[in-house]
Parts: sequence; C-alpha cells; structure tokens
Amino acid sequence: MFKLNDNMKLGVASASMQVEGGELNSNWHDWADRGFIKDGSSPSNANDHWNRYEEDFKLMREMGITEYRFGIEWTRIEPTEGEFSDEALNHYRRMIECMRDNGIRPLMTLWHFSHPMWFENEGGWLKSENIPYFTRYVSVVLNSLGDLVEEYITINEPNVFAVNGYLFNEWPPSNNNGLVQCVKVMSVLATAHIEAYKLIKEYNNDYLVGFAHHVRVFKGVGAGLFRFLFQDGVALAFTKGEFKFPFVNYRRFKKGDYVDFLGVNYYSQTIVKGMEFGFSTDLPKNDLGWDIYPEGLVRCVRELYALCPKPIYITENGTCDNDDRFRSRYIYDHLNAINKVGLPILKYYYWSFSDNFEWVEGESSRFGLVHINYETMERTLKESGRFYASIIKNRGITRSTYDEFVAGSHYDSV
Ligand code: BGC
Repeated sequence: MFKLNDNMKLGVASASMQVEGGELNSNWHDWADRGFIKDGSSPSNANDHWNRYEEDFKLMREMGITEYRFGIEWTRIEPTEGEFSDEALNHYRRMIECMRDNGIRPLMTLWHFSHPMWFENEGGWLKSENIPYFTRYVSVVLNSLGDLVEEYITINEPNVFAVNGYLFNEWPPSNNNGLVQCVKVMSVLATAHIEAYKLIKEYNNDYLVGFAHHVRVFKGVGAGLFRFLFQDGVALAFTKGEFKFPFVNYRRFKKGDYVDFLGVNYYSQTIVKGMEFGFSTDLPKNDLGWDIYPEGLVRCVRELYALCPKPIYITENGTCDNDDRFRSRYIYDHLNAINKVGLPILKYYYWSFSDNFEWVEGESSRFGLVHINYETMERTLKESGRFYASIIKNRGITRSTYDEFVAGSHYDSV
C-alpha cells in the first residue's frame, strides 16, 4: 500500500507497427512475409488501431489515462522515397486531435524498429549516408503535426534493434551480421537522434525530446563489457554526444546536451557467460521466461541518472502474462520499487495499453492491460487494467485495491 509521489504521472505506451495494422511495405511486413514470425501472424493484422483509435482513446479515458506514448509509422508517411502521403499525415492529425479531445497528452515516437523497405534496401541504419532520409521525414512530421505534440522520442531502443538485427540474427535485416556492424548501427542511430533533437528544438525550443533506452541489469562474466557496449556507451553517445571507442561520431558533433529527459525501458536482467546470455535460476519468470526483478529497475535508473542527471520518464515497463495471472503484482512491485528511489521520475508508461504484435513472437505474447481478440478485434479490459485504473484514480494503492487485485495475483513458483 502506498501513495504515488506527487509529481509522477501514469500512462500507457504502444508502437505504430505493433498496433496499427494494414498492408504496408515495411521491414517488418517483409520479415513476416518471409515466415520469420514464430506464430505465423503479421503486423498487417495487429490491433486495427488505425481504424479503431476512437474506441481505444475512449477506453483510455474511461481508465483515467492522461499520458500516452504512441508511435507514428514512417512507412505510411513516406511509402515511396521522397513522396509523402498527405492522406496518412491527415489521418495522424485526426488521431492526435481525438487523443487530445479525450484529455490524453501525446508523447510521440518517431522511429520504433520499423521503416519503409526502400530505406532498408538503401542499407538502412548501417549507413550514415542514410541519416538525411530520416531527418527529412522528421521535418515533414514537424511541419504537419508539430503544433499538436510537445514531447518526442526520436529513436526507440537502439541497442535492442542493433543486437537482434545485426548480432543475434533474429530480426530484420539479419545480414552483414557481427559486433562491428552492431556497434555501427548504434552509432548511426545516435547520430540520427542528435540531428532530430536539433530539428525539434529549432522548431520549438520548449518542446521536450529524448530517446527510449532499453536498460537491464547485467550480471556474470563479461557483464561490464556488455553493460558498456549496450547500455552506458550508447547512453553517453545519445545524451551527450560523447562517442567513446568503439562508437563513432559521424557528424563530429560537439559534446553537449542532447536530451531533455531520460527515457527508460526496463523489463529484466541478463546473466552473461562469455558470449552466452541467459536468466537466473532463482527468480520468478514471465511467460517469455524473462526474470521478474523489480529492484533491477531501481538499479538501472540510478546508474543512468548518474551518467546523465535529467528528469526520468519510464517509457516502458511491463510483462508478458498471457492469462493475466500476475500482471497486477508485477505492476505493484515495480511501482512500489521506483516510488521510493528519491529521483525525479516524472512519468511511468505501462507497456502496453493493449495486447499487440510482439515482433518475432507475434500475437501470442500478451503484454496488455486490455485483451485483444485478434479475430473480432474486440477489446476487453483485463483485471490488471482495472487495477491500473484504480491506481490512477486513487493516486496509489489502497488496502482495498491491494486486497482486490494484488493479494491473489502470484508469480509462478521458481
Ligand atoms: C520494445 C517493445 C516491445 C517490448 C516487449 C521493448 O523492447 O520497445 O516494442 O514490445 O519491449 O518485448
């Protein structure tokens, strides 16, 4: 039982490719067409949020949600190189207006793992020469939608994208693999972020801009090296333009201040054994086998804040719990942990508002507060969704909401 800190707002998060649906020519549609999604699903289906956003925002309003982190899809906005779709931009305009009319404040992600195939075919994020494609897209977005959105995330989880697509060979593009390419992709993304940061600040210096960093606790042999390569080194490049070896500063940016807040995505920890990565044997697991480790969130936030002391937004935290057995306890444990840290955590966005297309896991891995029936597209609030709404309403967790939602919600025994 606890009261939320006065300055912390609760919201929900999603990403364009994971919820919108529609037949697009993107890197993820291509990946699905090539049969790489484990359950055979595709982002063409997703949640049909593109057509059902009114219903989704109404449901958010009913839950008392006033903060929404969402993404826009580059593939829709620029389906062919250099040709921007007014239809898509106008649709996003109506969508954001509807969000705002429902009392929901937008935090907009400009790139969340997905982009047009023409960009991929040009070499995607492996080539620093491709950065102007991204900045041109960002300028178009600002000119069309910039008056409606005051907070931005440029790039989502550069490290996860680079590792899965260029080192582990599990995500697109999965060619030219290796650590060298993986680090190069993170460097190019950091450079693109700084360019986009500057563009948005030129458009309106009062706007707040950051990137969403995937952080985890690394333990075991070699943990220090991996923490530097995938976490701290990336954070220094993005937040301060400090590109330490092996990261490369492709535009020779001066060191400076390139974020207004720290976006933190936290899920779990990694136990390192040489070049092998796994989980602990003694912690409860979610339905993807990831350790449930709330203290890790506190540790990661403290470490990141020590590198760059800016206001903190937890831009993602959540869990894959297909039957909603332990999600309420997970939320309770993580909120309880960060509520006590004494750092300026201003927002917490639960991942995710609804079940959605979970990348290579497809539709079968459910992270949502709202259940999606993928055949009928019916939305149903889960028990954990009712719990989250109660936390927002009461600005904390009371004895009776604890008894109603958390007391009977248990992790599987280890
Ligand atoms: C990503 C989300 C994803 C979530 C759960 C994060 O790495 O930003 O897109 O759905 O984790 O796997």
